[in-house]
Amino acid sequence: MVDLTGQYASVGKEMDDAVLQAVRSGQYINGPEVQAFAKALSDYTGASYVIPCGNGTDALQMALMASDLKPGDEVIVPAFTYAAAVETVVLLGLTPVVTDVEAETCNMDVNKINEAISSKTKAIIPVHLFGQVADMENILKISSENKLFVIEDNAQSIGAEYFFSNETKKQAGTMGDIGTLSFFPTKNLGCYGDGGAMMTNHEDLAKRLTMISRHGQVTKYHHHLIGCNSRLDTVQAAVLLVKLKYLDRFTDSRKNAAVFYHEHLQELSEFIILPSEKTYSSHVYNQFTIRVKDGRRDELQSYLKERKIPATVYYPLPMHRQAAFRNIVRTGGDLSVSEELCDSVLSLPMHTELDYEQLEYIVEQIKLFFN
Ligand SMILES: Cc1ncc(COP(=O)(O)O)c(C=O)c1O
Repeated sequence: MVDLTGQYASVGKEMDDAVLQAVRSGQYINGPEVQAFAKALSDYTGASYVIPCGNGTDALQMALMASDLKPGDEVIVPAFTYAAAVETVVLLGLTPVVTDVEAETCNMDVNKINEAISSKTKAIIPVHLFGQVADMENILKISSENKLFVIEDNAQSIGAEYFFSNETKKQAGTMGDIGTLSFFPTKNLGCYGDGGAMMTNHEDLAKRLTMISRHGQVTKYHHHLIGCNSRLDTVQAAVLLVKLKYLDRFTDSRKNAAVFYHEHLQELSEFIILPSEKTYSSHVYNQFTIRVKDGRRDELQSYLKERKIPATVYYPLPMHRQAAFRNIVRTGGDLSVSEELCDSVLSLPMHTELDYEQLEYIVEQIKLFFN
């Protein structure tokens, strides 16, 4: 699905030098690269505060810890997503309320949120899935009407922009109370191991998040809050500092691959539905996810696999059908779209090093399958 060594080769010596410098410095924890990366990411995203941490799941957990929710409080999450949001909600003794998504974008359906809200609902986690931002203007409106704390799970959509109706725009992850990021290697901005960050525009939240990520300390051995230990390693920060410089170039490569898929697969509309791009959001294509009609998804996936084309199902089961969560989540209304997506979605190869020949081969094989 991804060609990480190819991307490394494209950056080459600059990366080698940066990593070696971090290794030679001996400052493996909280070296200068960590703060330099936080500053660079704040400049890039427009978020006032960036707090690097160990991974995107920790970022979600710490965002929830900072939100001051009490056990039993409810948090709205999409039914069709990666499990981290639901998992961290459950870990903190909160109740996930799963709500349906839109078939077109696979993001939270804003028309379904109100029916999921009860007197116990205190927070919402919109996930910007596959590279496109959820309808944040409406989500923020509903959240403000219902006093919900908003945590944007932006693991998959770094750099995507949301366009508000008043013609202002903001980057994904910078509109809610806290936005979280993952730098897992396959993400649009990925490091060479695990990494994550939390973003906020609120100074008080930034202070809390920083404390929580350091065992609740402000000064060493004085613990003011229950926290955890979640840091971005210096070496990973050095990697990310280099990669952030090229993020726009990487995003353009993904967008170009998406344009190719759109152009060459649109004639198959009888058999597949291509991802749609909303006017309120740009799309940074962490995934290019098609929907396969007539129950033929698994057949197509096997056909492509036999031809050495890795196509993956993100995600095969909605949150309310997962063994770990099914007895814990509250279902906030009908979830039929999420269920249907789990049976029909297929993500085609998408990364920064896809070349014309590879793309041509992929679309050719898909056409052969259907014709
Ligand atoms: C939407 C979403 N949220 C959260 C995460 C968790 O990130 P990490 O793997 O860095 O813990 C991921 C990672 O796959 C993700 O895709």
